[in-house]
Amino acid sequence: MKARSAFPERGRPRGDIAAALAEMREADADWRGGRVPLYVFGALPEVEEVGREAFMTFFSENALGARRAFKSLGRMEEEIVDMALGLFHAPADGAGVVTSGGTESILLAVKACRDFARARRGERFLHGNLVLPETAHPAFDKAALLMDLEVRRIPVAGDLRADIAAMANAVDTETSMIAGSVPCFPYGVIDPIAELSELALSRGLWLHVDACVGGYLAPFARDLGRPIPEFDFALPGVAALSADLHKFGFCPKPASTILFRDTTRANAGGFDLDVWPSGRFTTRTLVGTRPGGSVAAAWAVLNHLGREGYRAIAARLIAMRDAYVAGIEAIPGMRVFGRPELTIIAFGAEALDMAAVAEDMAARGWVPGLVRRPPGLHIMASLLHEGVRDRYLGDLAAAVAAAPPASATGVAADY
Ligand SMILES: Cc1ncc(COP(=O)(O)O)c(C=O)c1O
Repeated sequence: MKARSAFPERGRPRGDIAAALAEMREADADWRGGRVPLYVFGALPEVEEVGREAFMTFFSENALGARRAFKSLGRMEEEIVDMALGLFHAPADGAGVVTSGGTESILLAVKACRDFARARRGERFLHGNLVLPETAHPAFDKAALLMDLEVRRIPVAGDLRADIAAMANAVDTETSMIAGSVPCFPYGVIDPIAELSELALSRGLWLHVDACVGGYLAPFARDLGRPIPEFDFALPGVAALSADLHKFGFCPKPASTILFRDTTRANAGGFDLDVWPSGRFTTRTLVGTRPGGSVAAAWAVLNHLGREGYRAIAARLIAMRDAYVAGIEAIPGMRVFGRPELTIIAFGAEALDMAAVAEDMAARGWVPGLVRRPPGLHIMASLLHEGVRDRYLGDLAAAVAAAPPASATGVAADY
């Protein structure tokens, strides 16, 4: 058994602490060098600095106090949400909140959906289920576990997008939510949100659009003429949309936005508790204390980049994606799964042992992103991966050339 670390009796000086942190960090993967295909999303060094400066300016402030003490944070949060509502074509009554990430945004959406359905459908609607493409993020299942809801994961169609007919078949009187991703994490493809919107309207369901990955990238790729289908509140069946600022919004973690079509739906996602001696406790987030730094940093980055800045980054990212796809497809036997629409690319070779390819890539210094079905590798690329493309593709070609034939074990994807 591992020895338990002791709570030190005497503290260590600041310099020692900094040195210890630097030393521990030496064992980490080199994300700045483009070796990590997810977790960190790099734009440009200046954008990182703008975010860092704003974060540190509000390092100690608590966004829980945004209404009563830190009005600056309240104002910034309102402006962030307004910008997002505008970007995603929300009606005038749209509302939203800044959260700690995609998981919290989805959790709040599921709670809002459940409570909205209960209020509308009355007592007889007690439990409820969510009908999702199998590619939806496990955050929906976390929410369902916490709220005792059932999740029905439906196999995707041949193009790896949500199978609308199969989802429609899985809907019953207890269904409250259907969802689609923009794009889904496993394959990087965008679900047919317009068709999901029609399904939602025809069956009286709440459609959640999980644009956690693509929310702050897809609109700008679309501006550039890329064939990104409509996915936001312009579609009348979309009830809520999650979009992460800390992914392709290039804001410091933790930061996401959850947006609702109207204030009634938004209010259903919040908490209004009058239960203890201290009086009424209301939050629109799950968490109480929230870092003021991430609200300030998100405000700073959005204003620093503006639509123009995001468009310029989107242009580079999409060109980079095309180059990665072409490079992967040029390796004999390799196939890209589906048609990646933003910067997530999943790929593999049926005839090869992809677990061995992944191990070989790890030995060459890359943290391999993985897909289990079908066995393959996965990258969620940002500008951190622009400069290392040739090296990555060269190592991938070598790893593929050295790989044994496919084994029965597949790839053990473990996030
Ligand atoms: C499509 C999608 N939705 C939701 C999430 C959850 O986001 P977070 O890790 O910020 O909680 C992710 C994370 O990668 C994701 O890819």
